[in-house]
Amino acid sequence: MFEELAKKAGQWTPSLSEMFSNDPGRATRYVAEGAGLRFDYSKHWVDDSVMLTLLDLANSSELELRRSQFFAGERVNRTENRAALHMALRADSSDHYAIDGASVVPSVLSERKRVYAFAEDVRAGRVNGETGQIFTDVVNIGIGGSDLGPLLVADALRSQSWGPVPHFVSNVDGAHFADTLLNLRPETTLFVVASKSFATEDTMHNAAKAKIWISESLGDSAVLKHFAAVSANRSLVTDFGISDERNFGIQDWVGGRYSVWSSIGLPLMLALGPEIFDRFLSGARSMDQHFKDAPFARNIPVLMALLGVWYRNGFGLETHAVLPYAQRLARLPAYLQQLEMESNGKRIDLNGDVLNYDTCPVIWGEPGTNGQHSFYQLLHQGTLISPIDFLLAANPTNTDRSSHQLLMSNCLAQSESLAFGKKASDVAGKLTAQGLSKERIKALVSYRTFPGNRPSSLILFDRLSPEVLGAMIAAYEHKVFTQGVIWNVNSFDQWGVELGKEQCGDLLPAFDTGDAEGFSSATQEALSWLLNQSD
Ligand code: F6P
Repeated sequence: MFEELAKKAGQWTPSLSEMFSNDPGRATRYVAEGAGLRFDYSKHWVDDSVMLTLLDLANSSELELRRSQFFAGERVNRTENRAALHMALRADSSDHYAIDGASVVPSVLSERKRVYAFAEDVRAGRVNGETGQIFTDVVNIGIGGSDLGPLLVADALRSQSWGPVPHFVSNVDGAHFADTLLNLRPETTLFVVASKSFATEDTMHNAAKAKIWISESLGDSAVLKHFAAVSANRSLVTDFGISDERNFGIQDWVGGRYSVWSSIGLPLMLALGPEIFDRFLSGARSMDQHFKDAPFARNIPVLMALLGVWYRNGFGLETHAVLPYAQRLARLPAYLQQLEMESNGKRIDLNGDVLNYDTCPVIWGEPGTNGQHSFYQLLHQGTLISPIDFLLAANPTNTDRSSHQLLMSNCLAQSESLAFGKKASDVAGKLTAQGLSKERIKALVSYRTFPGNRPSSLILFDRLSPEVLGAMIAAYEHKVFTQGVIWNVNSFDQWGVELGKEQCGDLLPAFDTGDAEGFSSATQEALSWLLNQSD
């Protein structure tokens, strides 16, 4: 299926330096804009002919048809026989989203209204704790999609946060719970147990501990006041001891990693307020519009997806780096790891057949400038080439201009030097000017040469506003959808997480009995070593 791409990639010779010197219009031509983002892909291994091939690939994958089925609420998640209609979560009353002919917008809007009302009541002190004190802190207990989205957005929009301070406990490692609660007071802490299934072991374990933490200091009856839930599983929420009024729903057609727009955003509504949350939704809505309306050649998510496919299936590159030049986007790489790798980390196609081509690369990254002082050495001079997304705002959000200029300068400088490198002759010239001997120059020059030709996108925006953040996350969602279509996989299931969960359930009793019969000798040996060491 990707033979033509691989063939084209195999014949690819021009470097970025050559392409820029032969084509002065390149920096303005290979740019797409939409929903407040400027996507500059000029520093990629593409020319017009490659772009045509990639656009042909989108067309031959029937992207247009598949996109309209997706927006029409068809059951694109075939293995779970349901739609994936997270775009409806950012709808306003003029939008039309339906499943099986029935509009889902009224229920989305009414649930949003309900969760907003609760958030407003908490923020205004109308809903408060057992002792009558206002909630100063909210602890979200959830994992995966019930954690990473709210965590990313809470960090990103921290400067606009005036409500209860959000905290996040996800890891089943007790240290996460203990560290997070260290400076919190039960009287002023509200817990949100966020779990679509309300059956995720890690989350339920931490939620049970939180319940004990509250009851031990405020009494059992305080649980009703100090807990809320976001879940599709109403009866398990009730069994846990959270009332129906405090349970906010999440529709079965919303996948965990696509759910930040739903009631899963409750900690954000509490911290930021419904008005900011609405702006976040509206940014995503503009990106939905852009994804639906812009021609593929100027469509940001489609271009992001096609470039990814070019590197993965043409050149066989195995990783993709996300390097936000924004400290407040520090969690973006982690968020995208789940979004991309849980969605498209697949080896079976939509017909149930094993694929004979590669799918999702490893997504990784760190914010700049920190990454520069750790792994950029490899990016510049290592043997592995990883395409990069650089993300950068033109304006700082409540920080000083001079720091921001330094940040911007770092980002552009990295993108420039990765693309164009530094030639041996320039290195030699510089060392000569510094007065080094010929022998010393000869010994040093190869170490100080930069091959360049390392591809990157530059994703620019005005500032990290709620709208821009919404648009950015939605752009990645649609990139994932587009790649899923091209790779012909189901981007909305995640069967690959099940085996480990199952095995964990089977193994847990062995930590009491010491008997791991049925497990491999390796696991039995590890278990007995751990038990021998345990205090
Ligand atoms: O184990 C993976 C997963 O199912 C994710 O897809 C999901 O986001 C996460 O667990 C949490 O699930 P839940 O919201 O049901 O607790």
